[in-house]
Amino acid sequence: MKATRVLIIEDEKLIRWSLIQRFREEGFETAEAETGADGLAKLREEAYDLILLDHKLPDTTGLRVLGEVRDIDSDVVVVIMTAYSNVEDAVAAMRLGAYDYLAKPFTMEDMMRTVHKGLETTQLRRQVRDYRRRLQDRFGFDRIIGDCPRMHELFSLMRDVAGSGGSTLFLRGESGTGKDLVAKTVHHNSDRADRPFMNITCTALSENLLESELFGHERGAFTDAKSQKKGLLELADGGTVYLDEIGDMPKSLQPKLLRFLEERAFRRVGGVVDIEVDVRIIAATNRDIEAAVREGRFREDLFYRLNIIPIVLPPLRDRADDIEKLAMHFIAQFAAEFRRDVRGLTRPAVAKLNAYGWPGNVRELRNAIERAVLLSKDPILGHDDFVLGAIEPDPAEAGETPRFVLPANGVALNDVEEELVRQAIERTEGHQGAAAKLLGLSRDQLRYRLQKYGILGE
Ligand SMILES: Nc1ncnc2c1ncn2[C@@H]1O[C@H](COP(=O)(O)OP(=O)(O)O)[C@@H](O)[C@H]1O
Ligand SMILES: [Mg+2]
Repeated sequence: MKATRVLIIEDEKLIRWSLIQRFREEGFETAEAETGADGLAKLREEAYDLILLDHKLPDTTGLRVLGEVRDIDSDVVVVIMTAYSNVEDAVAAMRLGAYDYLAKPFTMEDMMRTVHKGLETTQLRRQVRDYRRRLQDRFGFDRIIGDCPRMHELFSLMRDVAGSGGSTLFLRGESGTGKDLVAKTVHHNSDRADRPFMNITCTALSENLLESELFGHERGAFTDAKSQKKGLLELADGGTVYLDEIGDMPKSLQPKLLRFLEERAFRRVGGVVDIEVDVRIIAATNRDIEAAVREGRFREDLFYRLNIIPIVLPPLRDRADDIEKLAMHFIAQFAAEFRRDVRGLTRPAVAKLNAYGWPGNVRELRNAIERAVLLSKDPILGHDDFVLGAIEPDPAEAGETPRFVLPANGVALNDVEEELVRQAIERTEGHQGAAAKLLGLSRDQLRYRLQKYGILGE
């Protein structure tokens, strides 16, 4: 590891000397200056991690030096050394970005403690900043590919809403059109970026579980509620909650969400006090939610409350100009990820991609490119590298919407089996051959179950 570098700007020789001894013992690389001008000159030449700065210098004050230090290096940790009578100035120095001050005389132990804390804090701050930069990189607007007018409209809308604090957004578009991506991008480019982004898929959980996930519950609210639990809305305070597949939210929960959107307050399950949080809701659906409203499955008032800022993502087939761009974007991404030398597409490959209907939208295109990049023997992907329409569903996606939802309290498999056998017999009006086919069973296997559950002869 590189040694930590300290610059000591101090005109008293003895203090300088004892600091240097101590810092060298601790493995620091040291440099010294007697005047402010000399110190600044050294700082311009080389970078330091730490500056110990005397408040009273022959040519200037520590405060003045500090102002210039910040112009040269905004990260370096500065500790001011000052006499008791000048503590006021030290406070001013901290306002200017000094990490701390020590009043003379101080012990070396005090000095080392302060310095180590200061270095740690700066390192943490640097890590947080890097991390945030990487996230912003991953979720920059430029990571969303689209050049057609509708996408440009979308970008400017996204920029507007990202800046608009807590307004509710409603993302609409077929599966795979980029709703998740837009939600995360808005979050990471808003002033909520350093607060949580939490997401929940309304279909993935039973009604009760969804309610307690979202709103939390009090201890004893139901049989399994052994302790109090905070819901996503509380955990995401200051941030964003993404409600995916909102069109499938159980009707019983809709009033509670509506109240939250209107009053920014809710109660935990079993709770009697209102909890207020500052959370932006981004809801998404790929359903015809107007139909759900007409059929009474979705509350009209909630629909209007959500639909204040609708953001509609066009299906990929309506933005044919973007297909090649997206394909190149994913080629670059997967080539890097899999370390494969794949660089482009042949004309016939482009024509094939353009002619296809993309029912799975960008997600399907991404999967097709991933597969082609992995399997291709050639740096330029050709017509034959794409098997369209036959790609298996993304397992991650399949996991998002389970075909059967296990109830919160579990279920006896036998009961499920019995219920499905009954339904099959009813649907086929007692035709055992057809019922067996519906269930993927042989006639004998079906007969066995009919006997087992006493369904025969009823
Ligand atoms: N315009 C776009 N530019 C780049 N990648 C995109 C774009 N739209 C979607 N994607 C990618 O396609 C995949 C599916 O998008 P996603 O946001 O999950 O869709 P949805 O939530 O609408 O089903 C993700 O990997 C996403 O990053
Ligand atoms: Mg999604």
